[in-house]
Amino acid sequence: METILTSTTCQLTPFPSPSSSSSSSSLPLRFSSSIAPALRDTRKKAVAASAVLRRPANPAVPLRVRANSQAAPASAEAAKAAGVPGEMKAWVYGEYGGVDVLKFDPKVSVPDVKEDQVLIKVAAAALNPVDAKRRQGKFKATDSPLPTVPGYDVAGVVVKVGSQVKELKEGDEVYGNINEKALEGPKQFGSFAEYTAVEEKLLALKPKNIDFVQAAGLPLAIETAYEGLERTGFSAGKSILVLGGAGGVGSLVIQLAKHVFGASRVAATSSTGKLEFLKSLGADLAIDYTKENFEDLPEKFDVVYDAVGQCDRAVKVIKEGGIVVALTGAVVPPGFRFVVSSNGEVLKKLNPYIESGKVKPIVDPKGLFPFSQVTEAFSYIETNRASGKVVIHPIP
Ligand SMILES: NC(=O)c1ccc[n+]([C@@H]2O[C@H](COP(=O)([O-])OP(=O)(O)OC[C@H]3O[C@@H](n4cnc5c(N)ncnc54)[C@H](OP(=O)(O)O)[C@@H]3O)[C@@H](O)[C@H]2O)c1
Repeated sequence: METILTSTTCQLTPFPSPSSSSSSSSLPLRFSSSIAPALRDTRKKAVAASAVLRRPANPAVPLRVRANSQAAPASAEAAKAAGVPGEMKAWVYGEYGGVDVLKFDPKVSVPDVKEDQVLIKVAAAALNPVDAKRRQGKFKATDSPLPTVPGYDVAGVVVKVGSQVKELKEGDEVYGNINEKALEGPKQFGSFAEYTAVEEKLLALKPKNIDFVQAAGLPLAIETAYEGLERTGFSAGKSILVLGGAGGVGSLVIQLAKHVFGASRVAATSSTGKLEFLKSLGADLAIDYTKENFEDLPEKFDVVYDAVGQCDRAVKVIKEGGIVVALTGAVVPPGFRFVVSSNGEVLKKLNPYIESGKVKPIVDPKGLFPFSQVTEAFSYIETNRASGKVVIHPIP
């Protein structure tokens, strides 16, 4: 048994490596929402002139995201001294809605770096369903004020460090989920930009054996997979059914349950074409949800990890004393819901499993989009058919 996790709470539990070996950065932003026709024309010309970002289906409009006027001069000077420009290319939305609210803006202020933060030159950024739901306004009650540069997941290079940063230094290759609380005031300056500012505690050094694209796809999904398993008290020898095994979270739940926690048996659901994929991740039983109901199986499970929203059905297939963790949809006892917290310590603990190849980052073969196609990337993840992760790369 390579790993044993026994915690019954969401606290991190140290475990041996396989080789045996808040605060939001939301700034008081000033947002000019007036989209004057003359400015729009100017912007269209500027974008048309750009060989890098040409997106005729959704021409950029002059949205402006600015750091507050008091902080801006000092920030601009410091950034210049560090070789960081004062402005950057970013995707922005100033109102909630469909993918058409997303606008490319080549002149967004580079965010200030607080004392506990680092500034990352973004190499790759990944999408999560929360990016789409947030943009649709589903979390507006607890969202930070608009406008928003979306994006939770990032991989890139540290280009500047705050005064209280202890371990990271310029040049470090890092990855992480930039929002400590996914739904409570997530940052206005997200990762779909050239630069993003992130608390050191939310980051880890990028595993050496994976590239930025692979790393960008991991943080929020693997933190969710890990935290959910921890919260169920999952441990070696237990069985688990993963609903939505082919998705960003589910594909990591299968791998963590099997290869990190030491599950005795892993079952998972997907559509017909993804059954072999589930098995390749470590599933002992791959269930085609288009052909059979998992409730009809003769076996029961210690844990059901529901990444689909089927808690009402999931509670029928747990053993006595079993538990269901439901990421989305209505919750039926003894199911429970949690909202993921970003935590660099989780990434650091799991890095050895990634470096040993026991846990593999999965990027959807159709899910790599250049920075100019962030809108298309959103549309793709919103099909609810992605396998593994949808990633934005390259970023200029
Ligand atoms: N509470 C939290 O903290 C938290 C954190 C992360 C995610 N979430 C939520 O959890 C859900 C999953 O997130 P994700 O990142 O894994 O999404 P995702 O990557 O977009 O999931 C897409 C996958 O879902 C599968 N799927 C869709 N319907 C299915 C069904 N009826 N049965 C089995 N599989 C099905 C699809 O496989 P097929 O093509 O084979 O159908 C596809 O591979 C989302 O609603 C997300 O918002 C919540």
